[in-house]
Amino acid sequence: MKVVVVESAPAAARVVADLVERFVTTAPRPALGLATGATMAPVFAELVRRHREHGLSFARARAYLLDEYLGLDREDPCAYRNVVHRLLARHVDLGAGAVHGPDPHAADLDAECDRYERELLAAPIGLQLLGIGSNGHIAFNEPGSPLDSTTRVVALSGQTRAGNARFFPAGQAVPARAITQGIATIRAADQLVMVACGKHKAQAVARAVEGPITSEVPASAIQLHPNVTVVLRASAAVGLSESLRADTQ
Ligand code: GLP
Repeated sequence: MKVVVVESAPAAARVVADLVERFVTTAPRPALGLATGATMAPVFAELVRRHREHGLSFARARAYLLDEYLGLDREDPCAYRNVVHRLLARHVDLGAGAVHGPDPHAADLDAECDRYERELLAAPIGLQLLGIGSNGHIAFNEPGSPLDSTTRVVALSGQTRAGNARFFPAGQAVPARAITQGIATIRAADQLVMVACGKHKAQAVARAVEGPITSEVPASAIQLHPNVTVVLRASAAVGLSESLRADTQ
């Protein structure tokens, strides 16, 4: 595992954008796994800037969502498909239909999860972006999620719903359920890039990177993957041992 520690969120976004740029420009048919959340916003902004100013092209790429809320209207701005469209897809040259995700409005959600799982494994995902929840979740795999889990419907924890309430208008409840790629699904990607900024992520990051591999800390599953880069703003790295924090840029 490579750990890169930087001083600011924009610097973290540049490191992640470098990895994404290398991937989309060199992979024969790039399948890019996208996370959402506040941590990804500067990453998407940096990719948009590179597209506009340097012609970074996504025309050959396909993008795949990590997770999606259940119970929102199709046009709800908080639906992750719409977030990705608003912050990234509509500003770059991702082709029509190039953003893939589970359909949260499918009549049979279990069948839809199985369909999306098959689509992901066939893609296959070359580079998967990941954030981390303050309780150690990745995607919407909450503590207790089996390390061999696949794409499925999950209930969101109180901590996750409270943490994500800031993205919803006052008075609108954070959905109680979501579809998420499983931990095994995520691990099937060729390369994982996990990003975290802020002191409130430091404990989860330390447990994910250096703690025991356990379903109680779903993000600890990244330790099982042979090609992982963890990009941290210094504030999120304070719980790591000195040797790991040494790779500071
Ligand atoms: C949500 C998403 C996760 C993301 C996490 C962290 O719960 N489902 O994929 O990693 O939030 O979000 P933020 O970057 O806003 O802290």
